[in-house]
Amino acid sequence: MLLNRQRRRAVIAGAVTVATAALGIGLSTQFAGAQATTLRGAADAIGKDIGVAVSYSQLVNNASYRDTVAGEFNSLTAENSMKWDATEPQDGNYTFSQADAIVDFAEANGQSVHGHTFVWHSQTPSWVQGLNATAMRTAMVDHINTVANRYEGRVDSWDVVNEVVSDNNGAMRDSFWLRTMGEGYITTAFQTARAADPNADLYINDYSIDGINAKSDTVYRIAQGLKSQNLLDGVGFQAHLILGQVPSSMEANLQRFVDLGLKVRITELDIRMNLPADSAKLQQQANDYQRVVEMCAELLDCSGVTVWGLRDGDSWVPGTFPGTGAPLLFNDDYSKKPAYTAVLNALGGGGTGNPTTTPATSDPATTSPPPTGSGCTATLSVSSPWNTGATYSATVKADQNLNGWKVTWTWPGSERISNAWSVTGTLTGATVNGANESYNGTLAAGQSTTFGFNITKADGSTASTPTVTCTPA
Ligand code: XIL
Repeated sequence: MLLNRQRRRAVIAGAVTVATAALGIGLSTQFAGAQATTLRGAADAIGKDIGVAVSYSQLVNNASYRDTVAGEFNSLTAENSMKWDATEPQDGNYTFSQADAIVDFAEANGQSVHGHTFVWHSQTPSWVQGLNATAMRTAMVDHINTVANRYEGRVDSWDVVNEVVSDNNGAMRDSFWLRTMGEGYITTAFQTARAADPNADLYINDYSIDGINAKSDTVYRIAQGLKSQNLLDGVGFQAHLILGQVPSSMEANLQRFVDLGLKVRITELDIRMNLPADSAKLQQQANDYQRVVEMCAELLDCSGVTVWGLRDGDSWVPGTFPGTGAPLLFNDDYSKKPAYTAVLNALGGGGTGNPTTTPATSDPATTSPPPTGSGCTATLSVSSPWNTGATYSATVKADQNLNGWKVTWTWPGSERISNAWSVTGTLTGATVNGANESYNGTLAAGQSTTFGFNITKADGSTASTPTVTCTPA
């Protein structure tokens, strides 16, 4: 799989012109220099996938859409075209024209493909849903074999099962699959996929499992079982998020799956807001995107991030969550939103015009350095403790206009920071000296920002909340 992916990526190494044979477009893309100016250039440089869910009809009909998809992303997922209703609408009648076009496009543009999806309770034809247990098993095995074999060596990874856990306290989803075949349907799906394409990475994928909660606990148990049988390679976190609500335990959650020996992947990222959008919301969205993508960038076993659509107008969100929208990286005219630059920065690219930093306002009251401990206040809170560690969230509140802030505290006991986000500095010792990142240092009087971190601590001890000294920088 890796070799295959490297071979395809080689198509775009250096300055080349890539053209799609299938859809007949040409695109000239320069990949050079240390500081990448496209998402894919930055992602390639750190060995990550930056993916986008694509619509077949846009890809076929819209040249600007094709150019942006080819120029900015190194991985594709079919938003709908590989689902069961698209690939086998009637029993044994396979229709691959849309999926083929997307895979051809990816190949012509040096992009990997994350396949979505074999077994789901939604967008699966009624002829499947009405089968008895034996016939349903036969249909599942035939479907997975046929689709996986067709794209063997061309689709790098598959969401083998999608959304198999319910939102009800981590119970299994009461789907027609479960009711007809029992829980074994999941194992059957993975066994079939493994045999059909032994080189593809196999994922279990779900939503609302981004933080540590009852639902992600159930996925964790399923993942443990599948991994122990060598049937699972990764866990997909859909991450259909709400503005300002990146779960504080998300890093710790990804880490616990990595600790099982699995890859993790952000598979369907979008961050929705109540409409209308305004500049403050778009700024918050940029911060949220940056946080999520940084998490993946910093985690060796995170294979990548896929955004669920190209432009805001392409998104499924307004139709599904009425009154909300604007969840993606591009405006409908292909102009880049603040979130785009935030993602570029999180991947290590860019370097110009960080959109998450608002222009510095100089405050005449602060021409001489303010006394230590005034100007801002910071507090720690434990958002998710476990025996040997905890996730914290911290709030920095500006009492005056700030162009930067510093925080310091000393742990009273064995607590030590293992990883942190939205804060930089000397963080891992008994005394912590932190400072703002480039994007969250500028705060007007009364505004606040957050950062977070995980700690390790002595087994069973309490995670303390020491007093923090905050100083303007
Ligand atoms: C959505 C698509 O974006 C829509 O176009 C379609 O009408 C419904 O499905 N979780 C998933 C995706 O796994 O397949 C869903 O995609 C969004 C939620």
